[in-house]
Parts: sequence; C-alpha cells; structure tokens
Amino acid sequence: MPARHELDPSSPLARLVGTSKAITDIRAEIEKLADSAASVLVTGPSGSGKDVVAQLLHQRGRRAARPFIALNCAAVAPDLLESEMFGHEAGAFTGAVKARPGRFEAAHGGTLFLDEVGDMATAMQAKLLRALETRVVERVGGMLPIAVDVRVIAATSVDLFAAIDRGDFRCDLLYRLDVIRIEMPGLADRPEDVPLLIRHFAALLPGQPVRFTAAAEDLLMRQPWPGNVRELKNFVERAQAHFPGEIIGAERLPRLLRGFTPAVARPAPPAPEPIPDAGIDLKRILADLEHAYITEALTVSGGAVAATAKLLGLQRTTLIEKMRRLHIGTAGG
Ligand SMILES: Nc1ncnc2c1ncn2[C@@H]1O[C@H](COP(=O)(O)OP(=O)(O)OP(=O)(O)O)[C@@H](O)[C@H]1O
Ligand SMILES: [Mg+2]
Repeated sequence: MPARHELDPSSPLARLVGTSKAITDIRAEIEKLADSAASVLVTGPSGSGKDVVAQLLHQRGRRAARPFIALNCAAVAPDLLESEMFGHEAGAFTGAVKARPGRFEAAHGGTLFLDEVGDMATAMQAKLLRALETRVVERVGGMLPIAVDVRVIAATSVDLFAAIDRGDFRCDLLYRLDVIRIEMPGLADRPEDVPLLIRHFAALLPGQPVRFTAAAEDLLMRQPWPGNVRELKNFVERAQAHFPGEIIGAERLPRLLRGFTPAVARPAPPAPEPIPDAGIDLKRILADLEHAYITEALTVSGGAVAATAKLLGLQRTTLIEKMRRLHIGTAGG
C-alpha cells in the first residue's frame, strides 16, 4: 500500500526550517500561494523537502481542515494506478470485489499530492490530464462522472523537460501541473541552513540533544549531502544515538559520517505483481528471487564463490550458507 497521509487539523504542522535566502523565499511563496487553487509543481532532488512543501501549502491554506491525500505514482504498479487515482466499481476487474473511491474523490475539498509524477505511464498521463481539465473523474468500470474539487500539487525529482524530449512525458500535462513552480535547492547549495537543521532534528529526538563544536559544524556545512536534508536527519539521529547530550568535535565526524548509503544510489526495487485475493507466499517468492540472483551471479563469475559473494554484496560465508539452504551447487545447478 503506498503512503497515504490524511492530515487532520490536529496533526503536527510541517516545518520548513532554514534561514538561507532560498528557503526564506520559499516560505514566503508558500504563504502567498496557500489559499490559491492553482496547481503547483514542486521540483528538487531526493530528500530536499518536496513533501514538506506540499504539506505546508495544504496546512497554511483554506483547505487545511479538509483531506490531504498523497499518491506516490512510482510506488503503485502501473496497471493499478488508474483505480488508485480514480477508484473502481465492484467487479471492474479481477480482485475488485468491492467498489472503492479513488484518491481524487478522497481528496474532495482538499489537496491531492501526486508524488513522483514523472513515473506515470503515458496512457495514464492522458487520463490525469482529462481529469484536471474537466474536474470530473470516472471510476474504473463506472458510468457516472463524479465532480471533484481538489487542489493538485505534483512533485518530481526527475527533469520533466528531459522526459518530454524522450517522449516519456506529455507536454500538455506538464503545463497543466506547472502553473506555479517551487524549486527546492539541494542542501549543498544552502550550507548556512545545516546548523539550524541539526538543532531542529536533535530537538525532535528523545533524550538530551547532541551538539557540535564550531569546527565540527564548519565541516558539516562543507559536506556534499547527496541525500540532502533526509541524509542530514539520519546523520543527526545516528549522532544522537551514539553520543546523547555530548558536544562532538570534528575529530569524531569521519566515523559518524560513514555508514550512510545514499538513497539516490540504490536502484529501485522491482515493482511487485498485484496481490491476488488468495494472498501470496512471500517467503517462497523471496527464496526464488535469491535463487535466481545467486545462480545468475555464479554464472557471471564462472562459479567462483568469492567473486560471486562480492557481486552480490554478501560475505562469503553468508553466500555459502544461502547456497546450501537453496540447494545451489557451484556446477551451475
Ligand atoms: N527545510 C526542512 N526543515 C525541516 N525538515 C525538513 C526540511 N526539509 C526536509 N525535511 C525533512 O527531511 C526529510 C526529507 O524531506 P522530504 O520527504 O520532504 O523530501 P523529498 O524532497 O520529498 O524527498 P523524495 O524525493 O525522496 O520524496 C523529511 O523527514 C522532512 O521532514
Ligand atoms: Mg517526497
């Protein structure tokens, strides 16, 4: 199930912390635009705060008491996206046992946040464009048009203009979404926000907040932070877990800074098949997947166990143990 946050008025307010010119301007922009119903496109690298901006736009506007519904277009299997977005009637397709409203209907009166909008198949883009133009949706297998009043906020971490050039994104849809653009800068472009963000995240954690010497802060401001604010947040959590209440000097940073695998460098996991009503056997599926990858890696490395383990990012002993469990021999079987 993809993430769905429904903010009610009692939910904590999102915060966009920072005193850099970029963040100060964006905060002012949000205040100015919160009451508008115009579509907003939030761009920026992973972890830069696009979700925060979307939530703030909703919370600061006149739709705040109505639902904020998020749909991550990259997290839903392509053939399920239409029914997620527009809903379905009972019996519309195998597995559609009961009728269900889509995210557009759920967001009625409020805000619909379409995350990773660049990941949508072009056929789906056409349907989204029609819904945005007519403000009417039809459930899959349904006959009745349903009028919806939603403010749409879309986010993307990929360059949609490049996607248009490749033929992967519809130009007319981009213009519909890109009425107002908010561009989130990467954290490396606003180093002056780093100390403030550190204090903000440390204060949110339980226990005595961790602190840093001026020299350490200086070093942290010069980090590249490829995972942006999310990476910094993880770093603060790690520092606080190891050294609650302490003042950390620059000499202790190298160890603390290691151990972060940027989310951007990890390939996306394969999209799952739709889950049938009868359910699935996840352990079996994972074992089959392990079997397939290990066999493939063994073939690539000519059956050498050490090289295979390296290819798979496993310890040699872990690989041998897995091969024994999965009945894989080095002779290819
Ligand atoms: N300026 C900020 N002030 C406070 N917290 C922030 C700020 N920017 C980001 N965060 C926090 O950092 C984390 C990552 O931010 P967010 O989820 O908004 O990034 P994103 O741009 O949507 O990333 P992705 O492209 O991976 O979806 C969240 O926990 C968010 O609350
Ligand atoms: Mg996000």
